[in-house]
Order: sequence, then C-alpha cells, then structure tokens
Amino acid sequence: MCRNLSKYALLFLLLSLSGVIFLLCNIHNIESWNCHTVSALYQLQTRLHSSLLTLNLPSYNHNLTFCAHLGQKPSPEDELEEHYLLDSIQWPGPPSHIAPPALRQTSNPLQSSFTILPKKERKEWRVGDQLEALVQIHDFQGRPKRYGGDFLLARLHSPELGAGVAGTVVDHRNGIYSALFPLLWAGPARIEITLVHPSEAVVVLKQLREHQPRRVFFKSLFRLGFLSETTICNMCLPSDQHPLCNYTDLYTGEPWYCYKPKMLSCDTRINHAKGGYLKNLLTNKEALLFQSGVNIKVRIPASGKDRISVLPPEDNVEGKGSSVKTDTVQLAPSGYYFKDLWRPLGGATMRHFNDSAAIRQCLRNKVVNMYGDSTVRQWFEYLIASAPEIKEINLNSPKNVGPFMAVDTTHNILLNYRCHGPPIRFSTVLSSELRYVSNELDGLSGGPNTVVVLSIWAHFSTFPVEVYIRRLRHIRRAVLKLQGRAPGTLVVIRSANLQAMDEEVSLYNSDWFSLQLDAVLKAMFRGLDVLMVDAWEMTLAHHLPHALHPAQPIVQNMIDMVLSYVCPEEKRSQT
Ligand SMILES: *[C@@H]1O[C@H](CO)[C@@H](O)[C@H](O)[C@H]1NC(C)=O
Ligand SMILES: *[C@@H]1O[C@H](CO)[C@@H](O)[C@H](O)[C@H]1NC(C)=O
Ligand SMILES: *[C@@H]1O[C@H](CO)[C@@H](O)[C@H](O)[C@H]1NC(C)=O
Repeated sequence: MCRNLSKYALLFLLLSLSGVIFLLCNIHNIESWNCHTVSALYQLQTRLHSSLLTLNLPSYNHNLTFCAHLGQKPSPEDELEEHYLLDSIQWPGPPSHIAPPALRQTSNPLQSSFTILPKKERKEWRVGDQLEALVQIHDFQGRPKRYGGDFLLARLHSPELGAGVAGTVVDHRNGIYSALFPLLWAGPARIEITLVHPSEAVVVLKQLREHQPRRVFFKSLFRLGFLSETTICNMCLPSDQHPLCNYTDLYTGEPWYCYKPKMLSCDTRINHAKGGYLKNLLTNKEALLFQSGVNIKVRIPASGKDRISVLPPEDNVEGKGSSVKTDTVQLAPSGYYFKDLWRPLGGATMRHFNDSAAIRQCLRNKVVNMYGDSTVRQWFEYLIASAPEIKEINLNSPKNVGPFMAVDTTHNILLNYRCHGPPIRFSTVLSSELRYVSNELDGLSGGPNTVVVLSIWAHFSTFPVEVYIRRLRHIRRAVLKLQGRAPGTLVVIRSANLQAMDEEVSLYNSDWFSLQLDAVLKAMFRGLDVLMVDAWEMTLAHHLPHALHPAQPIVQNMIDMVLSYVCPEEKRSQT
C-alpha cells in the first residue's frame, strides 16, 4: 500500500515536472520556433517514466470496439501518456444520476445570456487587460441550468478593424461559464458566444464515439480477371460473422480489415473507398437535441452591452501593441487577426507572400511533402493557384484523391500531396496508394531543403480517441526519427478546424469531436521542433463562416505562416 503510494507520488512529481517543462517549452517555442533542447529533456524524462512504471494503470474503454488489442502493444510510457491525454480531455456532463432529460430541460441558447463583467480597478479598458464575460445557460423553460458540459465557443472581434481572437471558455459546472479574452488591439471589441451543442447532446456524441465507431463504413473492390466483388471494411470488424482479410500494417501494426470476398482471395483487393454513413443512430428524443437553428451553433444573446472600447496601453500611447503579455497561462491564444492578417503571438515575424514571385522565391530549392486529409490538399491547391509557374504534373490520379505533384524547374521546386492511410473517407483510393504517413516519413531523406506538412484529423472523428492517439504516436515517432537523421527538416502540423454543422454532420463530424482530437494533437506535439498552424483558432477568430475547407483568406494566412517559417526574415541587426 505504502510502496504503491510512494510510486504514485513520484509519478505525479514527474508529471508535474513535465507540465513545467511543457510550459517552458511553450515560452521558448513562441520566442524562436525552436525547441531542440527542451524536447531532448522531454524525451529523457519519458525514459525516466518508463523505468518507474511497474504499477498497473487501469485501462480506459476497454471493450475494444476499435481493435486496440490487435495493434502493437503500446509501451508502458505510451500507455501512461494515453492515460494522461484521455484524462486531460474528460468532458463534464450532467450528473450521472439524472435521467435523460426532456428537451424542455436542456440548454436553450436563445434563453441563455452573457454579461460583460465590469472592470475592477480602473474605469477604462486598455490593451493588455483581460476581459471576462459570464454566461448563464437556461433551459427551454427559462430556468437556469445547474450543471455544466455545454460546448461553447467564444470570440472577441472588431469588424471595423478586421480583428478577431479566440476566447477561452471555463466551465464552472453549475450552468455558468466564463469567457475570457486578452485585449490585444485598441478600438472597438465585440463579444460573440455560440452554443455549439447543449451538454445533453455532448453525452449522445460521446456515446456514439465509443459505441458506434462503424457509423462511417468503408468498402473495397476485389477483382481478378472477370470476377469482382465488393466487401465492407473497417478498422475493426466482428470476426464471428464472416471470415476476414487482415490488412494490418506490418510496420506500425495499424489494424485494418475487410470481409473476405466469397470467391476471391484477400490478395485481389484493388481499392478502398468510403462506403457510407449508418443512419438512424438516434432515438426520437435524442434527435431533438440536434436541431439546426435551435441548438446547433446558435448565438447566445448579451443581456446588456456586447461590446467595449479598448484604449491603447497606458505606457505606450502610440498603441502599436507590440508584444502583449497576458499573465494568465490559460489565456494564451496562438495569435489574432488584425486588418484581416493573422499575427501569431510571440516573437515570430509574419511575412506576407502576396504574389507568385514571393512564393517561388521562398520555395526555391525546396521539396514540400504534404500528407493528410483534404484540408492540406487545400494548401497544395492554394500554392499552385497562387504561383501558377509551379506546374502540376498530370499523374492521372483520381480527382480530389491524388497523389498530386507540381514542379517548377526554374526554381527547382517540388510539391507533393498524398492522402493519409485508412480510415480515409475519400472516394476511391487504389490499394497501392493506401499508405500510412509514418511509413512515408520513414522513406524520406529529409534535410534543410525538405518541408513536411501534416494534417491528420478530419477522418478520425467517428472513432474513439485512442485510435487517434495511436496514429499520432506512430507519426510522432517517425517525425523524431526523420529530424534525428536529417537535421533541419522542417515539419509543419496543421491542426483541426471548425466546420459548418447541421443535424447530420454533427453525428459524424461535430466540432466537439474535432476539439477533442485537436487537444490531443497539440499536446502530443507540444515541445517538439515543429510549427503548429493553429487552424482551430484561425477559423474561430475569423469572421468568415466555419467550413470544413476554410475560405481562401484564412488559407492565405495559414500559407503565409508556413512560408514565414520556411523563409524567416533575415535578422539584419545581428550581422
Ligand atoms: C464488453 O461488452 C460485452 C457485451 O457488450 C459485455 O458482456 C462485457 O462484460 C464487456 N466487457 C468489459 C470488459 O467491459
Ligand atoms: C492481423 O495481423 C496482425 C499482424 O500480422 C496480427 O497481429 C493480428 O492478430 C491479426 N488479426 C487477426 C484478427 O488475426
Ligand atoms: C506585394 O507586396 C509588395 C510589397 O509589400 C508590393 O510591392 C506588391 O505590389 C504586392 N503585390 C501584390 C500583387 O499585391
């Protein structure tokens, strides 16, 4: 008993140490986009963890609806990390003794409201201050809610200035929420609070995620000579009904199965495609929690004023707002818009690559390998549209699927795009093109002229989070190996973004699923030498509507950020 306790104590000490290291690393990261030393520390410390791990951690979710038992067994430190990650994204909900409530007892955005808290010491708001609004959620009967778990988004913006920043929402678990914003620009600032889902709907989403991982299904065509058959595929299939073909990846152990065709052998699989979406996932009562215009992404009104006016900081009346310090750790947005241009917070200087010449100049002698879903394919498309001299080669690839390649022989530029491995909901991918990102990275020589861009999130929303953690673990390991053997390889990670949602989209692709994946993604790559393009905040802070494929001005800001990282401004003062 005592021995166990002291082990736990040690572990917690280490975990809290890791918190400090992550924090240090973040600060460091913001300053220079380089975190070699700290990430080495982090790795050392992971090793320390594993040597201590003799205790048996309880495992989560473990009816194995997602074939966790079929992949490679995670190492003890991987298990510990997974445990920690799953803990960090626990979502509060209605108290478990409460029976599923009727619609009238659930959160109603239109009867809820928010109030701006008055400034404490001074009368006026200044740049550098923190703004807080209290949100009180009410049900359809107008009664205040008594528990938390509602999914809210908060944004502070100014249409006049083309400014916007993501707010932080704190759930007080009693129906009241704080929305916190750093004040980063002088001038008008308006608060916008949106109820994305009532807490009762989040409960339903959570259940779908754990118990209906096959609500998006896949299929493969098998063919030999004149014979062809199509069967259903997924990460995990019940094996008691039909014999299976096992396509588990030999290198990573990532599981993938199809039902075996009746006449053909498993070797005759020729492609992979999205099969479809399972319907009738909800009871009639549950369906009431997912109504467009009623309780999906509806604005919460202000009970008084929804805007304030911000003065320049007292000590800097010119108000260029050079670098704003926020003293609360919670309030660390990754950037904000001003005049519709994204300004990452911290020392990084954004450059603007507004024409083809600037883009080509930056990418001269570079190979840019983009891997992932359609949200990074969008970057490939943006680049060849903005710099048409980088010419796409016709590889006869299927539309929207790829692989795609574009070349500029005068500037010696090569752009590649390839989709990530299953689960991928693209129309039809040849089996021969179905590759896991980590294996692709293992095949790269890398080096200072190589840029690797990763965007892996949208196709994982229907699976339990463990599936995503496992995938990212493999990718992270491959990234570290790549940077180890080829120092100077630039790695960019594009995070998840908000999207347009209706009743249907919510059940498969809700922003709530994405939010959870996004938190895991950011935590797993924190402190490593990668550029994180925070697509979540860049879509939340922007005035354009949420879309799976964000509008051009947002993509342009993302590309500017990447190119600023690839081609940083020369520091004249140092030479
Ligand atoms: C897994 O699920 C089955 C049936 O749904 C149940 O009988 C079994 O007890 C569960 N096992 C665990 C470990 O939860
Ligand atoms: C599928 O193959 C992998 C790797 O060879 C193996 O570990 C796994 O147990 C197999 N799955 C089944 C259901 O036999
Ligand atoms: C791009 O920016 C440069 C310098 O800021 C400017 O001279 C040029 O006209 C701009 N080009 C376009 C197409 O806006």
